[in-house]
Amino acid sequence: MIRSIATVALVAAAACGPRSEPARVAPLAPTADADRDGGGVPAEPQRPGDPTRGWHALIGRGYVGCGAPRTLYDRFAGAAPAGWRLPGRTGPGAELPYFANAYTAPSGVELVTANCLGCHASFLRGELVIGLGDASADFTFDVGPMLGAARLLVADPIARQEMTKLIDRAATLAPYMRTRTIGANPADHIAAVLFAHRDPATLAWSDEPRLELPAPEPIPVDVPAWWLLKKKTAMFHTAAGRGDQARIMMTASVLCVDDVASARAVDAYFPDIRAFILSLEPPRYPDPIDGVLAAHGRTTFERTCAACHGTYGPGGHYATRVIAQRVVGTDPLLAEHAGQFAAPFVRWFNSSFYGEIARLEPGDGYVAPPLDGVWATAPYLHNGSVPTLAALLDSTTRVARTMIGRGRDAYDLDAVGWRSDAVEDVPGVDPRWIYDASVAGYSNAGHTFGDDLTAAERRAVIEYLKTL
Ligand code: HEC
Ligand code: HEC
Repeated sequence: MIRSIATVALVAAAACGPRSEPARVAPLAPTADADRDGGGVPAEPQRPGDPTRGWHALIGRGYVGCGAPRTLYDRFAGAAPAGWRLPGRTGPGAELPYFANAYTAPSGVELVTANCLGCHASFLRGELVIGLGDASADFTFDVGPMLGAARLLVADPIARQEMTKLIDRAATLAPYMRTRTIGANPADHIAAVLFAHRDPATLAWSDEPRLELPAPEPIPVDVPAWWLLKKKTAMFHTAAGRGDQARIMMTASVLCVDDVASARAVDAYFPDIRAFILSLEPPRYPDPIDGVLAAHGRTTFERTCAACHGTYGPGGHYATRVIAQRVVGTDPLLAEHAGQFAAPFVRWFNSSFYGEIARLEPGDGYVAPPLDGVWATAPYLHNGSVPTLAALLDSTTRVARTMIGRGRDAYDLDAVGWRSDAVEDVPGVDPRWIYDASVAGYSNAGHTFGDDLTAAERRAVIEYLKTL
């Protein structure tokens, strides 16, 4: 249960109906579109920070502003298994799992709170990779029923106040953070609901929402890998995150930080956390790579893909380009600014404390992301709808209902991504593991840019992608 409550506290710093025929677009036509804005989204000034201090803040501080009393946490959860601890973490957090921090609240109560790694770290082939989005994070459960019991567990009145705050926030969010599929992430949706409950200028909490809340079901979003941020001039799949990136990340504080002074105190160390994120490098593909095949793949990539995704290696160049949804043809919901990116939430952010030096400005399409370490970041597309690179490059092989394999042995280094089976082949499977591309927001259509390649060219491009 505490794991579930901790998950509730995982709030983000801060994607058409039935599977339609993918729009077929000649690879070069979109380039003109992409080049409309020249070199992509222009860079904006960022505050400098220190990566080492950033790492310590990331795994040691209480930036979401609430948590469960340590005594209660220890009683139920106990010390984390060695494989879940962060190597080298000392102090009160030493025995906690990687996704939790220990800190002392202004009230003097020691709390265990969620950190960013609950969504931004993940096990890949048995190893915890910091910065890899967690494609198996489970937001399918209903936390509501657990909360009543949790209220009664704390005897000490001050600790009880802390617990009550966490539970009240969780109760507000419970109906809005439940996804239908494991791996779909509700972070942006959670942020919108929290915005709705606050005064933008003072951040004061109001139990009654001040804005109309979004529809309860989150639009599914896949968590981007942190090591890509150093190349990007806008955050998020729709390039919505503009201006000071540290300020956007510290929007995680919107969970429980209830006044501007406390938010400013959190903001003061977020340039360090951003500097840590910018220091991350992608993991290397672990198996041997066929160099000759990869060189062929590079030629095809530079002819077919580089106009949107950039070039790699010495002299490589990447610009953050927003590709119109009608060109890329992937699920439109997120790009239509549905749910969390609806105008009232964008306006709230831009007129709030968070909007002082940052802003939300969602584009009408999706960023063509940098592809460094792409072998490790399945499933693909903004909604995580495509399990492997092989399926990404041949849209005719995508299946409407798949059971997406997750876990230690499920990663396929050949097709590159998560092993998955058409559901028809797997009777009686838990529906939460089924990715159903016919549901609004979940479509796996579009991005047909690999379809016209020959099978051999696709093989070579995949070999090349392993080298990035
Ligand atoms: C509940 C899960 C969750 C938590 C917790 C979370 N994030 Fe995220 N994060 C996401 C999702 C989902 C996205 C993608 C949102 C989108 O593109 O619309 C994202 C995007 C980002 C991005 C932009 C990446 C890119 O390439 O565009 C950064 C940077 C980031 N988060 C940093 C943080 C930091 C720092 C924290 C902790 C303070 C944090 N996140 C906490 C889920 C989470
Ligand atoms: C017209 C621009 C364009 C072209 C050409 C293009 N892509 Fe993309 N690509 C995109 C966009 C936009 C996305 C994100 C779409 C989304 O998330 O809905 C994307 C997503 C991807 C992803 C998924 C990344 C992730 O982490 O989810 C991969 C891999 C990829 N492209 C590879 C390729 C390859 C290989 C080629 C050439 C065969 C190619 N792309 C051609 C625009 C393009």
